Amino acid sequence: MATKIRILPENLTNKIAAGEVVERPASVAKELVENALDAGSKEVVVEIESGGRRLIKVSDTGCGMSRDDALLALERHATSKIATDEDLFSLCTLGFRGEALPSVASVSRLTISTRTSDSVEGTEIYAEGGRIKEVKECGMAVGTVISVRNLFFNTPARLKFMKSAETEGGHVGELLTRLAISRPEVRFTYKNDGKVMFRALDADLKERVATMLGRSISSFLYPVSYQEGGLKVSGLVAAPECSRSAGSHLYTYINGRFIKDKVVQHAILQAYRNFLERGRYPVVAVFIDIAPGEVDVNVHPTKHEVRFREQGRVHDAIQKAVESVLKETPWLKRSAVAAASRPAEKGGGALRPFSSMEASQAALPVTPQPRPALTPGHPDPPPQAQLQQPLVSESRVAEVRELLVNFQPRPQPPLRPQYRGSVAPREGSPYAPIAAAPVPASEPQSAAQDSDHVAAGYFSSLGVIGQFNASYILCQRGTDLILIDQHAAHERVAFEKLKGQFAGREVDSQGLLFPETMEFSFRESAVLREHQAELARLGFEFEEFGGNTWLLKGVPQVLSATRYVDTIRDILEELGSLSRSRAFSDIQEDLLARIACHSVVRGKRTLSPVEIAALFKQMDETDFSSNCPHGRPVMQTLTLAEVEKMFKRI
Ligand SMILES: Nc1ncnc2c1ncn2[C@@H]1O[C@H](COP(=O)(O)OP(=O)(O)OP(=O)(O)O)[C@@H](O)[C@H]1O
Ligand SMILES: [Mg+2]
Repeated sequence: MATKIRILPENLTNKIAAGEVVERPASVAKELVENALDAGSKEVVVEIESGGRRLIKVSDTGCGMSRDDALLALERHATSKIATDEDLFSLCTLGFRGEALPSVASVSRLTISTRTSDSVEGTEIYAEGGRIKEVKECGMAVGTVISVRNLFFNTPARLKFMKSAETEGGHVGELLTRLAISRPEVRFTYKNDGKVMFRALDADLKERVATMLGRSISSFLYPVSYQEGGLKVSGLVAAPECSRSAGSHLYTYINGRFIKDKVVQHAILQAYRNFLERGRYPVVAVFIDIAPGEVDVNVHPTKHEVRFREQGRVHDAIQKAVESVLKETPWLKRSAVAAASRPAEKGGGALRPFSSMEASQAALPVTPQPRPALTPGHPDPPPQAQLQQPLVSESRVAEVRELLVNFQPRPQPPLRPQYRGSVAPREGSPYAPIAAAPVPASEPQSAAQDSDHVAAGYFSSLGVIGQFNASYILCQRGTDLILIDQHAAHERVAFEKLKGQFAGREVDSQGLLFPETMEFSFRESAVLREHQAELARLGFEFEEFGGNTWLLKGVPQVLSATRYVDTIRDILEELGSLSRSRAFSDIQEDLLARIACHSVVRGKRTLSPVEIAALFKQMDETDFSSNCPHGRPVMQTLTLAEVEKMFKRI
């Protein structure tokens, strides 16, 4: 009987392997640049056209290949980097699987031009879909040039998944950022459709990070240097105020290889836990050097994940290394202030009537400062100086007032000092209220005020009891106790306002009197370029200035008094994470919610009766739904029955 099982032809196995290794143009660039670095190149030039769909070309000045080696390189499992089992445990090259070139070749039209120093002629090989079509001599300098044309020309399903040229070009840039940070001594150039996107000269790590992530960050970087047994942790960590809303700026490396490893990331986040809010991620470039036998990089074809032999030890060493730097740095003073204010905040949790509320700024939380323009000509003050600015700026306080912009003072309902029980006790109830004259259930206010409130709308008609924990407004309506989350309410109001403007055409933008020069990381800059028009609709007006530098000319009006640089970074992060299946329209509401969220003062804030009334008025004027833009409820109602149940009265 004929066998059903057959060995697949090599061409097909290569295509299958390509499915794992070659996901998009950036993965091709990764494999080619890694090969160039393994070949000892001191200069790497990457050029792409049409987002890499038409061309990805990597030129290096490395050792090159002989004609025979170049032909072998296209064979599966052909590598010069390992020879025996033991070599797998003493890897010091980025590649070792002998899979990348045949995989890339199987899904493209690939040309290798290469020359070694002991040969006067170079070799040029042309292959289509993995089949070698032509081999000839060529004149060239020592090194290798690999051109990958028409990627996925023979795998239409993959081709369909490619995103716009800008997005793919951005991914290539991000990939190069990771590699360039890992090798500051190697010169990197990246050209996209003929335009030089960046040129990184050989430098030290700090200079390289500044080139790749933006110069504005370089004055916030602190060196890490830690050794424990055979494990070394080095690199740079940034001050907490450079934090991002996702982990995209966690550049972590094991033995020179970029990795995205949960253990490593967790250790770093643990070290920052006292300095960053939940959901914020630091900017770091951390290098872990460990005996190759202690770590297995052969977990996944892309080699982004690793397995440590002693995971706990590595985790703790990384955490200790980063913590030892964070402990010594100037922002500690700030967190000490924050910590000192914490017990007081706890004590302030009791319900306080307005009469005893001092609208003092001391009650305000420590909030980030609006920062001066990130202008290269006017460098940021050193971190120490920045952190010594007053902890709460007037402009932050003014934000809430900004939201109350249309406020017209009007008579306030009298404040109810205390809930006294508003319905007659249930017959036979063992706990009759002590107050002899309960307030009638339906009349929390006087008749005259009531009619005023009916006209005023739901929120304005609420009887305000007071503020709890400087975060919640307590109200009474009939016999219901209503708790309103003031942040959620502010956010909702700002969100609805922004949504209305956006639906009209675009969010009201406030032109900056002096446009700000802003430097972004390569990744952020690519996202900005791709979404410039959409950002303009959101109220952010940018003009390209060259490289990764942009001129910020306008910001959404609601953000004009805030630290909008952070908002912009968060929005770019979100736009950059748009997957293939999601378009801008899918996340526009999220972005408006983010702007609304950034426009509101965080933390505790004692509100005056006038401010509460103004907020309520705005809530009444807003197409108000009972959740904040993030889906948290704005208000909760406790009925009298529920309260009585709590006290076991019913
Ligand atoms: N730019 C280059 N300069 C010199 N030699 C190269 C270059 N690119 C590839 N080679 C040679 O071709 C071989 C095959 O490359 P390929 O990328 O397919 O495998 P690898 O790098 O050994 O392993 P991996 O699949 O893990 O990347 C390499 O081992 C190396 O000897
Ligand atoms: Mg390789």
